[in-house]
Amino acid sequence: MDDNFQSPQPIRKPKNFNNPERFIEGWYWVIPSKNLFVGEVKPMTILGRKVVIYRGEDEQAVIVDAYCPHMGADLAEGKVEGNDLRCAFHHWKFNHQGVCVEIPCLEEPLPLKLKTWPTAEKYGLIWVWTGENPRQPIPFVPELEFHECESILGSRFVMNCHPHVVMINSIDVQHFYSVHQLPLDIFFEKQELSQNAIVFTKQRRSNQDNKLFKLLRPIYKNNFYSISYWYGSTFTVTVGPDLLHLYIMLAMRMLDDGKSQIQTIFLTKKRSGFSGWLVTRFVLWLTNIFIQHFIKDDAEILQTINFDLKTPIKADVSIMQLINHVERQKPLRWKTWLLARSPDAEMKANQEKWRDAMTND
Ligand code: FES
Ligand SMILES: [Fe+2]
Repeated sequence: MDDNFQSPQPIRKPKNFNNPERFIEGWYWVIPSKNLFVGEVKPMTILGRKVVIYRGEDEQAVIVDAYCPHMGADLAEGKVEGNDLRCAFHHWKFNHQGVCVEIPCLEEPLPLKLKTWPTAEKYGLIWVWTGENPRQPIPFVPELEFHECESILGSRFVMNCHPHVVMINSIDVQHFYSVHQLPLDIFFEKQELSQNAIVFTKQRRSNQDNKLFKLLRPIYKNNFYSISYWYGSTFTVTVGPDLLHLYIMLAMRMLDDGKSQIQTIFLTKKRSGFSGWLVTRFVLWLTNIFIQHFIKDDAEILQTINFDLKTPIKADVSIMQLINHVERQKPLRWKTWLLARSPDAEMKANQEKWRDAMTND
């Protein structure tokens, strides 16, 4: 967009962006790895779809659709046997690829297959790919792509807005000044890593600083700030002077009421020896302090916002670029989405429909 960018007219409503009934095909976090023991099976709802997750003897996490293809019993009631899952109702057994391998009252199992979902573990989390075969990697910090890393899980919380709205906060140039009291003279350079990943790196327009930043200038001068966004659902933040970059990942998953369930992950390069271990703990602690500070400042706005970018100005150009990036990705809409809505939400929607109908009369 050029320097004369101005858009006083409302922009066309995006199809994917901030739409609680769609999501982008990609990797989504499921649960912390440590919350699933060998031999354990758990029910989960992922993006409105009921699934079951279990861990077999080979320690692999397996995610399958929740209902048995025989008569629909919930497989979360079943039992893990070796690397297989046995339904609690008529004891049909399925292997980790979902293939039916045993029907107790038949000599041969039927050629049946239970739907399985590609599953992987990274950063202490279990991840699921929401399509047939993963076409892209699990989100990573671009700067750490070729480094061995250490990570710890930080806090987990719910934001009362769509993950896309949480995401744009990190490149919302105007709010850096108005909410975080940072200089306003920055802009972002964007680089698309793939169809599903985009990076924004901070640049400065001038060298004019306010008093605080004049003081911090020697450190701040080379302060680096870069964000990578993956599948419209997870993003990483890299921040800090050249001397020490801090890395944070915010893995998000939309809940069935359009809110965001957020898991924070702190990352750092692996260091060797005892002193390396100490430095690593210190850096991860510092990362936690940093993110708490920034989330606190934004939280109130994000909990109450009714996002609708009707009047973008030039300073919103990065937000527009991110919206376009999300719009170009493959959307999914799982059929079970509406069924997964809570009875409360359903009742409220019905009441609203009824009220609308009465008002129109
Ligand atoms: S419902 Fe699962 S075996 Fe019959
Ligand atoms: Fe912010």
